[in-house]
Amino acid sequence: MTTTPSPVPTAPAGELGFGQVFTPHMTAMRWTPDGWERPTLRDFEDLALSPATMVFHYGQAIFEGMKAYRHPDGAVRLFRPERNASRLATSARRMAMPELPEADFVEAVSMLVDADREHVPAEPGHSLYLRPFTIATEATLGTRPAREYLFLVIASPSGPYFTAGFDAITVWVSEDHPRAHPGGTGYAKCAGNYAAGMLVQQVAAEHGAEQVVFLDAREGRWLEELGGMNLFLVREVDGRPTLVTPPVSDTLLEGITRSSLITLADDLGLRVEERPVSLEEWRAGAADGTVTEAFACGTAAVVTAIGTVRTQAADFVVGDGRPGLWTTRLRDALLGIQEGTAHDHNGWMRTV
Ligand code: PLP
Ligand code: COI
Repeated sequence: MTTTPSPVPTAPAGELGFGQVFTPHMTAMRWTPDGWERPTLRDFEDLALSPATMVFHYGQAIFEGMKAYRHPDGAVRLFRPERNASRLATSARRMAMPELPEADFVEAVSMLVDADREHVPAEPGHSLYLRPFTIATEATLGTRPAREYLFLVIASPSGPYFTAGFDAITVWVSEDHPRAHPGGTGYAKCAGNYAAGMLVQQVAAEHGAEQVVFLDAREGRWLEELGGMNLFLVREVDGRPTLVTPPVSDTLLEGITRSSLITLADDLGLRVEERPVSLEEWRAGAADGTVTEAFACGTAAVVTAIGTVRTQAADFVVGDGRPGLWTTRLRDALLGIQEGTAHDHNGWMRTV
């Protein structure tokens, strides 16, 4: 038997890392064919599940990632929680799992944040990372959608996702194993997508890279996203800096950070192109200086510059290999709103 990691933060904020420690509580909601039960607050503790529980065998498991921040006025606020609610519902539909209504999702998340609000870190770059997830809990080996589910929310006081903080990362391009294929589950946040990416993540680590860049399954040519983040390039188009990012499709997870940055870029007067972009365009643009920056973005990663791109053939460096001007501006604009040091002019934050 394994035991759960310490349910209270034992490290000083600067050494929290990401997803290492958990708060004392979790919220839970059960689903049976009669529907969802009301959310309850419980102690954070191990679950007792039959070895025949369906999630262990057929993997009906979906999750979300979101954060609560402690603002300078002392309030604790969530960033766009209704977006996570609607994406969890999208994931549920794809996996033949029950959809949790948005209001119930936000209520369950808020209940936990409220109970454990003293564990929301106040230091810049830190937050309470929230992991809502739903698993199939019916104990049977029959291959059909389960008839019992459990929705849980756990919380982890966290610092930056990458050990180097906001320094530029190195990425490994997966040329042999795509993450998603048309008609598949790429647009859903289901556990299986991450399980399928573990082998390439291991290869990436062996090559000294922090993340994997996945290419499209059909041609192995078009950039899609990273294992746990969306991808943006900054390129000079007609002498103007322009954000370029692959368009949303059924092979891509539509990031809430991604769509927020598109809005913020517009606010900053930065043009945005959502269009197919190839690895070759990235490589050639990095070589001739027209692709000046690249970054990964997501709830955990926030906005993290990509300095070096490693492929089977060779490496190439983007810009000077360090976080560029627009990467930094966009990160500051987003974090300012999230951490409450800038005006939330888009009305994204929700007080708990
Ligand atoms: N793509 C994948 C595969 C992810 O796991 C994530 C993280 O949640 C993202 C993109 C970014 O999504 P978001 O910005 O909503 O966190
Ligand atoms: C998140 O950013 O919330 C994710 O779920 C991605 C994962 C790599 C931690």
